[in-house]
Amino acid sequence: MKDYLPLRLKAVYDTVSSDLKGRLIDVGSDHGYLALYTLENGTDRVVCTDIHKAPAEKTMKCLKDNGFEDRSEVFCTDGLDGVDLLEGDVIVMAGLGGNNMTDIMKRVVDGRDSNIVKSLVWCLQPQKSIDVLREYFSKEGFEITDERVCFDRGIFYPIVKAVYTGVPYELSLSDKYYGKVFQKRFESKERDVIEYFVRLDSRYKIRARGDGEVSELIKERGL
Ligand SMILES: C[S@@+](CC[C@H](N)C(=O)[O-])C[C@H]1O[C@@H](n2cnc3c(N)ncnc32)[C@H](O)[C@@H]1O
Repeated sequence: MKDYLPLRLKAVYDTVSSDLKGRLIDVGSDHGYLALYTLENGTDRVVCTDIHKAPAEKTMKCLKDNGFEDRSEVFCTDGLDGVDLLEGDVIVMAGLGGNNMTDIMKRVVDGRDSNIVKSLVWCLQPQKSIDVLREYFSKEGFEITDERVCFDRGIFYPIVKAVYTGVPYELSLSDKYYGKVFQKRFESKERDVIEYFVRLDSRYKIRARGDGEVSELIKERGL
């Protein structure tokens, strides 16, 4: 089990380690490694969910085999459906698509006690559609408190941390596609963000051929 946690998930953990006062909830836990690492590093309790039975069972086995059965709960469910949320819970979603994430978050915002919703910390590593996520955040009133990027085996993985305020805000095209926090880090000449933006620039130049909004974005940015 040595070095079992991929760099990408280590970066996710590092993004929220200072927020972990209570429980970590891992939505889409699959193998269960993030929950295992979190427990091994001093967090008292974890909750894992997976929509499919086989990965939910994999998570259960991983936590049980490592002696953490009594400090963990695993649910086979869609997102957080049927899972009690507690004040200060840190919710991670890694490796899911942005649309799937926003559906899960919408059901929490619409269906749960607003004081609890405002106390949650969300940490998301979307596999795709980070722009959809940022747009949803601006309309719904999720403030982005941190953005980090992890480069692992040739791939850039952006990670976004957010809290719910319920106050919507304007989003420029650059904020939507590059991220406001990332742009500040770029201006501060952080090397990983500079390299990530080079990758984004070339991706958006290709996407602009069939997408009017991205075409406007690259004109605005002088690409
Ligand atoms: C690509 S894996 C990522 C696993 C792990 N989070 C990681 O980053 O390595 C995505 C996992 O999320 C689960 N999943 C997808 N949609 C889900 C949903 N709506 N609710 C809960 N789990 C979901 C899948 O069954 C799968 O196990």
